Amino acid sequence: MSAGVVETSRGEYTISTDPARLDVAAIGRFLGQSYWAAGIPAETLRRSLAGAICFGLFHGTEQVGFCRVVTDRATFAWLCDVWIEEAHRGGGLGQWLVETVLAHPDLQGLRRFLLATRDAHSLYARCGFRPPVRPDAFMEIHRPDIYRAAAAPTNAPPPQGHDAHAARPAEPPSPAPAPRAHAGQDLWTKVDGALEAWLAPADPALAAAAAAAAQAGLPEIAVAPAQGRFLEVLARATGARRMLEIGTLAGYSTIWLARALPADGRLVSLEIDPERARLARENLDRAGLAPRVEVITGPALESLAGLCAAGVAPFDLVFVDADKQNSRAYVEQALALARPGTLVVVDNVVRDGRVIDPATGDAGVDGVRAMMDFIAAHPRLRAAGLQTVGAKGYDGMLLAVVEDAAPGGGVSG
Ligand SMILES: C[S@@+](CC[C@H](N)C(=O)[O-])C[C@H]1O[C@@H](n2cnc3c(N)ncnc32)[C@H](O)[C@@H]1O
Repeated sequence: MSAGVVETSRGEYTISTDPARLDVAAIGRFLGQSYWAAGIPAETLRRSLAGAICFGLFHGTEQVGFCRVVTDRATFAWLCDVWIEEAHRGGGLGQWLVETVLAHPDLQGLRRFLLATRDAHSLYARCGFRPPVRPDAFMEIHRPDIYRAAAAPTNAPPPQGHDAHAARPAEPPSPAPAPRAHAGQDLWTKVDGALEAWLAPADPALAAAAAAAAQAGLPEIAVAPAQGRFLEVLARATGARRMLEIGTLAGYSTIWLARALPADGRLVSLEIDPERARLARENLDRAGLAPRVEVITGPALESLAGLCAAGVAPFDLVFVDADKQNSRAYVEQALALARPGTLVVVDNVVRDGRVIDPATGDAGVDGVRAMMDFIAAHPRLRAAGLQTVGAKGYDGMLLAVVEDAAPGGGVSG
């Protein structure tokens, strides 16, 4: 039996489960901007609302947020379609909405409450959600492209590239925004899964590092497993004994790279966020790599200046994967810490193709473009850019080798 309508207010905002209050056109607009339900047919939307407990968030009488819960009201529930209008984000409404869901009388005593999110983990973690203890126990039939076949009107705004659950709390800006939805995403994800299964099967240390990052609510901006293996192969192929990583997060790519080191090799990784650096050290320790890896906390430009001042030996491989607005400065500094033959790898240089647009207004894109100009004109760098697709969407990597400074060693020919 249903508990009936639940309504709660906070200042000018109200959350209500009254189906009569729902603004179906507004919900359609919200979902039309999402990457997970863009193009949902009106009839499917109507049925999805009818079959769920719907929570509308209202500012006065205007609906400015939404989520729904699919449930048997006894054992199981699935939270989905969480949306807060852009102008109303950042004030804790998302958390309030989720807390209201969890307090609903029909959703008490459930054995399992599930949701899927791309990078709003920290929001849900604050409400008690945790990564599944046994992710391998879950199976799914997932058709993420199902609505895209019914093409959206050509003048509709493109699906937004951020979270599945747009009620993301205020967080330091992510250096690599989540990829936008692409028609081929489902296939790219499957192929990445197959490549992972063939070539980069999960192992306990990497799985634990990824789980710890999710548990800590970190955004999903680490390299994918297939890319991690790619980095490891590059490191092995170049015989790198000394590596520098700019952008550690929880140490996932660090583990891949450090595994290519010889026993007396060394990897220095730079991370601005002390909590992330701490987590990375824990993950590296668990992977048995702590003796070979040093994580330096602080703004990378300062840490790089410190390494230069300390006169450390040159690095054989540099992986740049931090805030993209400083990309040019990172490559410049990497050069000061390099030798002829050093390989510099820069991640996220294509950014959904936005790299070719000088007018995105996105400091990260502008940073990558400035880095490209710098590399193109640099006499000691011979570089290649590769577009990539995979579980993390459409992006790209730049590979540059440092050439000899001697006359004739330039790259202009
Ligand atoms: C994309 S993540 C790194 C992912 C990691 N390389 C991996 O694949 O597992 C970027 C990291 O750079 C860090 N970062 C951002 N700005 C920074 C800065 N100015 N100095 C050092 N680290 C920075 C962020 O805190 C974040 O953890």
